[in-house]
Amino acid sequence: MTDPAMEIDVDLSVQEILLAASQHNIPKLRQLIRNNQTAANPVNVQDPETGYSPLHAAIAACEPDDEQPNGAQINGAQTQDEQSGVVQAGSETVRFLLQEGAIWNDLDLKNETPGCLARRLGLMELYEQIVDAGVRAELLLNRLDGYEELSEDDELEEAAAEQTGDEAAPQLVDAAAATTATTADVVATETDPDVTNTRYLESNLTFQNDRLLDQDQNGVMMAWESDIMAKSAKKLLPTTGLRVLNVGHGMGIVDGFLQEQSPSSHHIIEAHPEVVAEMKRKGWHEKPGVTIHEGRWQDILPELVGQGEMFDAIYYDTFAESYGDFREFFSEQVIGILEQEGRWSFFNGMGADRQISYDVYQKVAEMDLFEAGFDVEWEEIKVPGLDNEWDGVRRSYWNIDSYRLPLCKYMD
Ligand SMILES: C[S@@+](CC[C@H](N)C(=O)[O-])C[C@H]1O[C@@H](n2cnc3c(N)ncnc32)[C@H](O)[C@@H]1O
Repeated sequence: MTDPAMEIDVDLSVQEILLAASQHNIPKLRQLIRNNQTAANPVNVQDPETGYSPLHAAIAACEPDDEQPNGAQINGAQTQDEQSGVVQAGSETVRFLLQEGAIWNDLDLKNETPGCLARRLGLMELYEQIVDAGVRAELLLNRLDGYEELSEDDELEEAAAEQTGDEAAPQLVDAAAATTATTADVVATETDPDVTNTRYLESNLTFQNDRLLDQDQNGVMMAWESDIMAKSAKKLLPTTGLRVLNVGHGMGIVDGFLQEQSPSSHHIIEAHPEVVAEMKRKGWHEKPGVTIHEGRWQDILPELVGQGEMFDAIYYDTFAESYGDFREFFSEQVIGILEQEGRWSFFNGMGADRQISYDVYQKVAEMDLFEAGFDVEWEEIKVPGLDNEWDGVRRSYWNIDSYRLPLCKYMD
């Protein structure tokens, strides 16, 4: 049984920390965080009524009041200059909290991370600070995930999880990926972190006109992505007569658009036996220039490299694979099959269930692409309202307004 006196102490200290954060009082916060004996993790306490963490509290206190008729703003701030001062103090407090180990993406009871809150309040400077913290956390977690494969040191990963937090974007991180966190999982996939590639490949599929579902009703592919696929195909094959490789056939939407560009050869790698059967039923094996490779890209690509196959363009859009798989694809495999002047792209669905995760993962991918020797250009495409799309689908994997279409080339 817990001691009621102890509970009151804990509540009081939580409220004190949150108050100091909202007052941007760094000396007080430092003292409360460093000397706190009651709360287990003082920099990451949360208010039981709002779910606010100190980061939420520091950001919420920067909310400008509605503009007054005389042009004055603010949360106590009467002028634009005073509001800038509040945001500056907020930004210093956010920096301090992050240095003390604040989790960048804890959710409050409205399901907002501190970054979501900053963005909703139009506090973009604070938003960018949180995005950068997310990038650092994800890079660290992804790196430690790599180490883990070598050392099998679970403690490393636990330490990373503690450091990075990660409660929002179930899409992104890897080991944590299997948990929640920006869990480096799921790059190009539209799936849930518990959906593994092995389980998916053994799952029965349902083919409908506007969607392809796995046996758990996860959306493997949906027709609303057609515009994205059309634009990706045109960017990859700006002229006819080029050689293209597509990894992941799904509903065949992008392959249909690639065919319209009359490639001289069109290779498709597809791992799911039911998708392969459907491809054959639809006569894909008889289309001009088409070669179907049945199996996972992890097994097929080394064979293609051995045969000396080269491509002018490559598209990657698989399902239920981790960010680690995707990074392996572009760091290890693309170089063996893409011509020097070639271009490649991928379905950019990482973290698309909330804007901040999408922004974090764009930066993480950009850094890893850079390290692998690629430049990437992004084109922003408006995504239509998808409210009615998700009936019968286990979870909506797209909750943001714009898609960023990547086009990657070797660096000069
Ligand atoms: C999202 S769908 C692709 C949708 C496609 N871009 C379209 O336009 O319809 C993903 C596809 O990748 C396949 N896939 C999943 N893992 C794979 C792997 N490791 N290697 C090859 N294909 C894989 C899935 O079976 C599925 O058909």
